Amino acid sequence: MGDKTVLVTGGGRRLGAATVTGLVEAGWTALVHVRTATKEAEALLSRLAEAHDHDVGRVISADLATPEGVQALANAVLADASVSDGLGGLVHNASIFFPSEGEGSPDDMTQARRDLWMLHVEAPVVLTEALAGALARGSGSIVSMVDTSWGKAWPHLGDYSASKAALRQRTLGWALDLAPKVRANAVAPGAILSADWEQAAFEETVARLPLQRSGRPEDIASAVRYFLEAPYVTGQVLAVDGGWSLV
Ligand SMILES: NC(=O)c1ccc[n+]([C@@H]2O[C@H](COP(=O)([O-])OP(=O)(O)OC[C@H]3O[C@@H](n4cnc5c(N)ncnc54)[C@H](OP(=O)(O)O)[C@@H]3O)[C@@H](O)[C@H]2O)c1
Repeated sequence: MGDKTVLVTGGGRRLGAATVTGLVEAGWTALVHVRTATKEAEALLSRLAEAHDHDVGRVISADLATPEGVQALANAVLADASVSDGLGGLVHNASIFFPSEGEGSPDDMTQARRDLWMLHVEAPVVLTEALAGALARGSGSIVSMVDTSWGKAWPHLGDYSASKAALRQRTLGWALDLAPKVRANAVAPGAILSADWEQAAFEETVARLPLQRSGRPEDIASAVRYFLEAPYVTGQVLAVDGGWSLV
């Protein structure tokens, strides 16, 4: 791939860590944003550094549920030496997935709602604005992680799915407004890794899938890498969902 740098938000665990791994293995330098997974991300980069002789990257901590955290992340990325000639990729992966209605105290629900919109909309928008110049200099691209809830309603997950829909739509806007220097696409994972609280529903979903199994984190990492390295593809949303969209 050469010497390009990518920022992956929420890159310390789960799908984010698989994405970082796939990109570093392909030659990218990864700025791995975390909120709490600092040790996991540092261990991941150490393992990757043992196997690869290019600059594998660094860990940057920030709470993206606060405006100060978003700004601090943007500043840290712009100050990184590997970004002096531009940024090659920005992956909006950090997320939360929980109900904002139904059971739970009103205060908890209000906080959940704020965090969902902050993480899925406000933080990606502000980060993209702050990093757009660096992306343009690096002929870079944006990949937003959305999901398969588009056009559907899931119980008590209205703010989750509406905020992901906003990110999806915002990504299409970036594809137009930031062209021709910056591309923007989205990956819509299906049932890949379940959250602790949705295990039963996750297994029911997987049983109904045409491909009859959950996806692997590497399936998502490959899709992200495809978009980052596909110079004539912009404004697309790719479902990686074992055929969930069909049923
Ligand atoms: N898992 C699936 O099957 C699935 C299905 C559909 C869509 N997706 C999408 O694919 C992406 C990756 O999925 P995932 O399940 O791996 O995600 P995840 O585990 O739910 O979240 C990814 C990371 O987001 C970070 N994060 C949470 N709150 C934060 C905050 N306030 N500030 C900064 N970072 C914060 C966490 O970082 P720390 O760990 O460092 O705290 C977490 O590791 C997400 O965008 C998700 O919506 C996943």
